[in-house]
Amino acid sequence: MKTYICEICGDAYIGEERPSDCPFCGAAKNFIKDGVEARPFVNQVIELSELSRKNLEETVQLELHANAVYLCMAGKAKTYEIKAMYKRIAKVELEHANIACKLMKIALPAVNPELCSDEDAENFAETIKLEENATALYAKFAKEATEQEIKIIFTALMQIEASHITLIKNYL
Ligand SMILES: [Fe+2]
Ligand SMILES: [Fe+2]
Repeated sequence: MKTYICEICGDAYIGEERPSDCPFCGAAKNFIKDGVEARPFVNQVIELSELSRKNLEETVQLELHANAVYLCMAGKAKTYEIKAMYKRIAKVELEHANIACKLMKIALPAVNPELCSDEDAENFAETIKLEENATALYAKFAKEATEQEIKIIFTALMQIEASHITLIKNYL
């Protein structure tokens, strides 16, 4: 067994092999390092520009909203697979909110419950809309960031949200 650490969220994964994606934040394999080598961004003191701070604040709101919506969808899911999948991506989005808060050195705000449809098909369509919006927004935030670390983090988040679209499209 070995300890691997994700440089995006800073969480440790213990296992025989490096996972293909971070189980906690969803970051791609290239961000998962051998424990001794890992330098997670969330542990670094990054001097944030006013614009990056504003974009990170928007990230927290977007991710907390997605977390609450996906928890609702998990509750309405017709099969255990869909329920478990939505619970997982809800946790991933909460981890993204946590990452943004850690970068800003602020506490995670409270999450307000959200509504969703009783139908899986409508929830899949809504999920794709949310993820497309997040992907586009993070591409913009990555471009706007003048700090190299923030650029990398928003690029990683953009890839993760895009992977959620692929995931949901498997169910259509
Ligand atoms: Fe991670
Ligand atoms: Fe997210």
